[in-house]
Amino acid sequence: MKRFGDFTAVGGIDVEVQRGEAFGFLGPNGAGKSSTMRMIACVSPRTGGELRVLGMDPDLHGPQIRARIGVVPQGDILDTELTVRQNLQVYGRYFGFSRSYVQAKATELLEFAQLTEKADVNVESLSGGMKRRLTIARSLVNDPELLLLDEPTTGLDPQARHLLWERLFRLKQRGATQIITTHYMDEAQQLCDRLVVMDNGTIVAGGTPTELISRYATREVLELRFPQAQPGEPALVHAGSSAGPSAVAGPQTSDNPPLERLTDLADRIEVLPDRLLLYTADGEAALTAAHNRGVRPMTSLVRRSTLEDVFLRLTGRSLVD
Ligand SMILES: Nc1ncnc2c1ncn2[C@@H]1O[C@H](COP(=O)(O)OP(=O)(O)OP(=O)(O)O)[C@@H](O)[C@H]1O
Ligand SMILES: [Mg+2]
Repeated sequence: MKRFGDFTAVGGIDVEVQRGEAFGFLGPNGAGKSSTMRMIACVSPRTGGELRVLGMDPDLHGPQIRARIGVVPQGDILDTELTVRQNLQVYGRYFGFSRSYVQAKATELLEFAQLTEKADVNVESLSGGMKRRLTIARSLVNDPELLLLDEPTTGLDPQARHLLWERLFRLKQRGATQIITTHYMDEAQQLCDRLVVMDNGTIVAGGTPTELISRYATREVLELRFPQAQPGEPALVHAGSSAGPSAVAGPQTSDNPPLERLTDLADRIEVLPDRLLLYTADGEAALTAAHNRGVRPMTSLVRRSTLEDVFLRLTGRSLVD
């Protein structure tokens, strides 16, 4: 539990992370992910409830816990006066490691983060993605048993993200427990053995990515995109009208909106401003059926369901606004 005055940022959270597991908190902005991470990292005391990290109470054993965990906060807090290598070494010295140990460790971590060529430049001149990689490298200085990663890949380009995912997987194989927050469903799906979906400071669902998808979504989704509605006009009525540049010859008329002709083609239909999402085991079959009924979307796409669909189902909102 974390309260700020009258406001409860983190409420009914009840989770247990097993040793060696990668556990995720997936949720939109303001869900309470960072507040939760800061309590686990022993930098923000909880205002209620119970918390044990590595079997210890952060209120009583903060320093002992901090010595054994690695923390990647959401924002990079690096020493911009120092070089890349110095950042790693100085941080290592905080843990009481010898000079020679941190030198060797820094070399290894620079390699890990692909920053060897930048070792001697000032942190200030690094790109955002490089700073992120350095923050992550720094969190590994003490070979943590538990790694806390708050939005680890925000700001990274796709290549750097994939590299990091691969490195995190390797760390997990070596036995490091990981707690990860993210609002990227692909990241959660890639990295997490188990995860909870958070919204407004509480957990709305939990399980493995596969369990969550099979519980809250169908195997496939058919996405149908229709022309944007004019202001004041209901989107899907317009989508069925024969007006507009993308309208095709066909039986669609404005008094025959596509939604009505599609309801029985899917287990569930999600209506978004510009799209219909049809949840069904067989997207191609639903698309063919829709075509046969004269529905002519601007574009159509069949894809596998993801955690984004789970989130939409659970909250009625999408993860990334
Ligand atoms: N120091 C603080 N004082 C007051 N309110 C706070 C404080 N820190 C966080 N909050 C509030 O607590 C709620 C949860 O914030 P938190 O940073 O934990 O969310 P988050 O899930 O990490 O979001 P994001 O994805 O944007 O990082 C928000 O409504 C936020 O405004
Ligand atoms: Mg956050």
